[in-house]
Amino acid sequence: MITTRDLTKVYRSRGREVTALDHVDLHVRPGEVYGVIGRSGAGKSTLIRCVNLLERPTSGTVTVDGQDLTALGGRGNRAPRPLRQARGGIGMIFQHFNLLSSRTVQGNVELPLEILGLGRRERARKALDLLDLVGLSDHARSHPSRLSGGQKQRVGIARALAGDPKVLLSDEATSALDPETTRSVLNLLRDLNRQLGLTILLITHEMDVVKSVCDSAALMEKGRIVESGVVSDLLATPGSRLAHELFPVGGTASGEDRTVVDITFHGESADRPVISQLTRAHDLDVSILGAAMDTVGGRQVGRMRIELPGRPAENGAPLDFLRAQGLTVELADPVPPARPGAAADGPRLEKQRQERTEESAR
Ligand SMILES: Nc1ncnc2c1ncn2[C@@H]1O[C@H](COP(=O)(O)OP(=O)(O)OP(=O)(O)O)[C@@H](O)[C@H]1O
Ligand SMILES: [Mg+2]
Repeated sequence: MITTRDLTKVYRSRGREVTALDHVDLHVRPGEVYGVIGRSGAGKSTLIRCVNLLERPTSGTVTVDGQDLTALGGRGNRAPRPLRQARGGIGMIFQHFNLLSSRTVQGNVELPLEILGLGRRERARKALDLLDLVGLSDHARSHPSRLSGGQKQRVGIARALAGDPKVLLSDEATSALDPETTRSVLNLLRDLNRQLGLTILLITHEMDVVKSVCDSAALMEKGRIVESGVVSDLLATPGSRLAHELFPVGGTASGEDRTVVDITFHGESADRPVISQLTRAHDLDVSILGAAMDTVGGRQVGRMRIELPGRPAENGAPLDFLRAQGLTVELADPVPPARPGAAADGPRLEKQRQERTEESAR
């Protein structure tokens, strides 16, 4: 549904060059929710703005729903008509909602419909339908200033859906919301994805967002996609950085001559008493150094860091036993190198939320 090939964006200003995107190949399949994560400055916003050509790529192509948008031309300020039409099939929502305070909620949703040239009655009908879809029928005549952050984002979503898009782009749409409101907005996006078959490309720095709604994810670093794939596949991939970011398990060995193992439970293995079977079958004392359990795509997934007595070379049989249970097994460095200033539980992509908006009880 969305494909970028060799997408490169170089910003040039005051004699300086910044390569914000460096040969990015992204592939989002129809009907999936695809999350892009990465640290500040990694190029996430640039990527999403290149997908609807709000930002013109320096080189490479962007194809959305089979149409090569980069071929639609337009170098000046005003996008040519074919590009504007193609953009009609791509909705976008923003971190700070970008609503017009002078217009009512309904007026905000009607705005893109006005641009599309719909008549007054048809606009009103469509806007009210969309407000119903996002659960805001009662607020059509309110002004945005009277709404909570979560409600404002729902208006943003209704407005983004006005052109019946097949694709929705979301740049940190939940970053200004508290956790509970974030969950309700994510549930709405998930519902729209399922009900309307909407393909969603979302950018986030919150791992919980990826865990709760994304089918696939990509990790960006310095303008490149360094890892991507279906989330449940990544979790089963030894050495996956995304899996470590999603489930950071900490804990260091209690001494020398120990084997530290990270195991990932998914699917059936999540329900079986694997650790107690291991201790019995191999007469071992197993210590749990860290663990994280969660539901990904409706399935229980977990990671655990355990310690076995003896060096790895002496633990071949217990490790084979764990692998035979269908678990992903990775040997962890028993004494990770000290990283000054690093959090004890490993790298995290979370940055401080710049803003929180309280959602009043709905
Ligand atoms: N209009 C611009 N002119 C010059 N440089 C820019 C411009 N927009 C972005 N950049 C630079 O491009 C790089 C990528 O920026 P981008 O906004 O895409 O990052 P991001 O991953 O979205 O970060 P954040 O998580 O902070 O939103 C950064 O180094 C940024 O400074
Ligand atoms: Mg950004």
